[in-house]
Amino acid sequence: MNKYIENLHWRYATKNFNPEKQVSKDDLETLLEAIRLSASSYGLQPYEVMVIEDPKVRAKLKPAAFGQPQITDSSCLLVFAFNTNVDEHYLEEFIKNNSETRNKPVEDFQDLKEMIQNSVLTFTEEAKHNWASRQVYIALGNLLSAAADLKIDVCPMEGFNSAEFDELLDLKSKNLKSVTLATVGYRSETDQLKDALKVRKSKEELFTRI
Ligand SMILES: Cc1cc2nc3c(=O)[nH]c(=O)nc-3n(C[C@H](O)[C@H](O)[C@H](O)COP(=O)(O)O)c2cc1C
Repeated sequence: MNKYIENLHWRYATKNFNPEKQVSKDDLETLLEAIRLSASSYGLQPYEVMVIEDPKVRAKLKPAAFGQPQITDSSCLLVFAFNTNVDEHYLEEFIKNNSETRNKPVEDFQDLKEMIQNSVLTFTEEAKHNWASRQVYIALGNLLSAAADLKIDVCPMEGFNSAEFDELLDLKSKNLKSVTLATVGYRSETDQLKDALKVRKSKEELFTRI
């Protein structure tokens, strides 16, 4: 079997992490870099990620994730939060980054700027939040694949109270709203699901080939 596919069979949404086994600093940085390099609409990356290793903070957050053990037993908790302030100022900063990174005058990015002004910036707040959340999930998917490549376990998690997380992490003051979590670490040998076969739609059900 192709190695990439083999790794995707190996990974699973880990329920029980080994609390004794920590992800190395280098591996964690690799995973964060995979998130950072994720594609996003226009490249706007309308989100930030809280990287929470502090056990005390994670213990405080656990009840707001319905007591799911991954929050405290994993090596690291990632909280993906979208930006609620994708506005003219946000766009200016984005264009500035383009200009500096590619060493070209800001004028060269005028068409891109106008495209964004005429699309994303015209969205209602609700549509904008919806759009921003969708970008987050691309990064989450990238994290899952990158972690599988390193044989590191991840549990993607939507089972949490976003308002409570925002409060506990003071996200509102940073114009952020939590949308999904990922716990990162190593599976416990006792996790019942670690050897379970993947339950997926068949290719016939999933793909229409034209
Ligand atoms: C966006 C998202 C949210 C999820 N939320 C949770 C969760 O809160 N708790 C949990 O144990 N698993 C959660 N899962 C894991 C899924 O149940 C799991 O990915 C799915 O059953 C497929 O199984 P596999 O990932 O083990 O192959 C979530 C998965 C995704 C993609």
